[in-house]
Amino acid sequence: MRKILVLNPKGGCGKSTIATNIAGYLSINGQNVAVADFDPQKSTEDWISRRPAHAPKISIAGVKGGKLSVPGKTDTVIIDTPAAIHGKKLADFVKSSETMVIPLLPSEIDISAAERFVDELFSLKKLINRKIKLATVANRVREDTLSAAKLDYFLNHMKLPGGRKLPFITVFRNSQNYVKAAEKGLSIFEFAPAKTTYDREQWQPLMKWLMSQRSLPG
Ligand SMILES: Nc1ncnc2c1ncn2[C@@H]1O[C@H](COP(=O)(O)OP(=O)(O)OP(=O)(O)O)[C@@H](O)[C@H]1O
Ligand SMILES: [Mg+2]
Repeated sequence: MRKILVLNPKGGCGKSTIATNIAGYLSINGQNVAVADFDPQKSTEDWISRRPAHAPKISIAGVKGGKLSVPGKTDTVIIDTPAAIHGKKLADFVKSSETMVIPLLPSEIDISAAERFVDELFSLKKLINRKIKLATVANRVREDTLSAAKLDYFLNHMKLPGGRKLPFITVFRNSQNYVKAAEKGLSIFEFAPAKTTYDREQWQPLMKWLMSQRSLPG
């Protein structure tokens, strides 16, 4: 069973939105998907409870003593995490998965916070030993030059140990499509096809990466 972790300590950066959209994409592509919602706010579990009957079923993973319990046939579990995860909790989450997706907001304040987080992340053994593959995605990017310039700055200035580059996969625009789809318990892959064409295109690089060996260690 595959485990995909969605994590960034920054509140509201899009963890639940990205977790539910990955879950939606994989489930409409025939996978048996579960989500593990570690956030006491339970917004991802609430999203599942809003899913219409016609949408492919996504299970909720139970969590007991830090261990996941999922239906036997589960192919992939998407792990949604709360904000403000640092230290041992961060290390425990990172230990539990092979693939990690980090949503980033492209504002100056968020970029500084993200730099500190990436520093902390790269002190972890599992990352040093490359036992987890990670990707960053920029979320809620406004389609103006200022926002794009900040993102460029961020990507070019992020320094990683050993001269490694931060793996950056794609940009998701700021769009009400995400809000409206989530209200209905849907991903953008299941919602208003004519309106979400551009958003779904923006997701292709992430899904291509997640479906390939490149997102798996070793
Ligand atoms: N690309 C987007 N365009 C427009 N709105 C978005 C986008 N991504 C997320 N949102 C909205 O931003 C808000 C925060 O997103 P979300 O709940 O996914 O963040 P989070 O990181 O899970 O937050 P928390 O840290 O509180 O768990 C939500 O209202 C969500 O609908
Ligand atoms: Mg959340």
